Amino acid sequence: MCGIIGYTGKKNIAQELVVGLEKLEYRGYDSAGIAYCEHGKLVAVKAVGRISELKKLTEVSRPDSACGIGHTRWATHGRPTLVNCHPHLSYGGKFAIVHNGIIENCKQLRAFCESRGVSPVSDTDSELIAHLLELCFDGDLRRAADKVAEMLKGSFAVGVLCSCRPNEIYAFSSRSPLVIGEGKNFCALASDGNALSGVDTLVFLKDGESALLRPSGAEYYRKGKRVNPPAAPFSSASALSVKDGFAHYMLKEMYEQPEAAARTVAALSDVRLRGALTFIGCGSSYHAGLSVLPLAEHVLRKPSYACLAGEFICSERVKRRGTTAVLLSQSGETADTVAAALEAERRACRTFAIVNVPSSTLTRVCKRHAVTRAGPEIAVATTKGFTSQVIAVAAMLTRGQTADSVKRLPFAMEKALAAAETQEAEEAARLLAISPDVFFIGRKADYGVALEGALKLKEITYINALGISSGELKHGSISLISDGTPVVVVHTDPSLREKTLLTISSVRARGGFVIGITDDSDVCAASDLAVRIPHCDPFLSPAVSVLPLQSIAYRAAVLLGRDVDKPRNLAKSVTVE
Ligand code: AGP
Repeated sequence: MCGIIGYTGKKNIAQELVVGLEKLEYRGYDSAGIAYCEHGKLVAVKAVGRISELKKLTEVSRPDSACGIGHTRWATHGRPTLVNCHPHLSYGGKFAIVHNGIIENCKQLRAFCESRGVSPVSDTDSELIAHLLELCFDGDLRRAADKVAEMLKGSFAVGVLCSCRPNEIYAFSSRSPLVIGEGKNFCALASDGNALSGVDTLVFLKDGESALLRPSGAEYYRKGKRVNPPAAPFSSASALSVKDGFAHYMLKEMYEQPEAAARTVAALSDVRLRGALTFIGCGSSYHAGLSVLPLAEHVLRKPSYACLAGEFICSERVKRRGTTAVLLSQSGETADTVAAALEAERRACRTFAIVNVPSSTLTRVCKRHAVTRAGPEIAVATTKGFTSQVIAVAAMLTRGQTADSVKRLPFAMEKALAAAETQEAEEAARLLAISPDVFFIGRKADYGVALEGALKLKEITYINALGISSGELKHGSISLISDGTPVVVVHTDPSLREKTLLTISSVRARGGFVIGITDDSDVCAASDLAVRIPHCDPFLSPAVSVLPLQSIAYRAAVLLGRDVDKPRNLAKSVTVE
């Protein structure tokens, strides 16, 4: 989702900004642009599509200032066009802005601008910020920005350039991440500290804070008064990774899973999760919560739930003290999950975040947090993010024999990755690639995995896939099964064998083609095609059984020629509610 970058005090500013934007590519975007000051005038260069297009346009740019801002846009208000692309200039050309977030009162603000004779040219909510700045400007940038921040409702992280101060950037934010970095003789801002090069320290702007960036350093303000927020040292360990010879980041990240799992278990085995748990997350993180639910209930003997973050904020479900809300999020920045964490705090729950990005917003919003050790995940479709979450929860819940089984999971994952390379997995991918509809079914811990398998296929192949509990199929969806419809059956729990076999036979009786993902010989024999996975504790199996599903989805996407790492319409980090 939208990404912001900015530097003051850097030579070759245009190229530096483009490098920063490349590091933010993983967030998902459909257009990109930069702005800087040249001969006292603000200039914006923009391109629709990939950053490589912007790179071509800026290759020879050598502005006389060393200060600029850049942006990757993920369309929300208006299509991905040049005019909607950031940075936006104000009507008189005095301001250039980049914005991440959603301005909820944009209709009223648009009307306000129009009432002052200013007609916005784009469909975006963001452009209004530039005009409002110029309308409020009386020679003092900070005062104008404070006034505008007060007028905005919603979430925003904003970077501002003003033609009167060509070496300064002003930044302000509320409910949207923005980090300020300081290095030797330069200052920077970004949506994600990992996108910054050469900085020594980072300061995460809190809601309502603003910063004035100069090459010599940053000044911070809250309600017009100077403040000194704590600075954290920048860790290069979190620098963004490279493809290492793999065709795609997704493929590389799939193969990193056993190692990521081992690191996560080692780091989190001494951390404990207790009490009645409510797992909260979005997309794959929600599926991770569903997958570990049976384990949590089995170990803790307390009713636990999994809830979509977007539903949690409008439900009344958890009101009791003593409930622990476990917020699962790879990025730690997902707006729905952050909102759910704030809501859980309001309801006096204990909040515990499990994130993969240290210092992300959720770590600051929740009372406690644990960091999975998956390392940077670049592909939009998560793989190691999901399995690390499953393993983190398993490590924090188990002791004794089961804890030993958790430690052995990385070995089972190695074997499952090998199973995903077999002829059967390839055949499954070929079949799915030519099918208009695919079903994924499973029960208990396999249910969350079935949902995750369907999501992976949808995300990167654009094939319609439905994840459903095996037991639910007969309550309606079975009417969609006809000759050759692929039904992927995830089965890892021996106690469910008879039920699974019955479901398989009712699918096959209607012409459905069953692809078994299982360690069970009977289920293998009953399937039309089976990918055999290594046996492991059925409560822990989600970290293993999901691997062939990721691989099958990946292969199908490659066969279809899809943009595997950056599927259409998707953002890595969904920072709007
Ligand atoms: C996963 O492949 C998806 N990209 C998506 O569902 C993702 O899991 C969801 O947006 C939540 O992200 P988070 O884990 O960073 O909070």
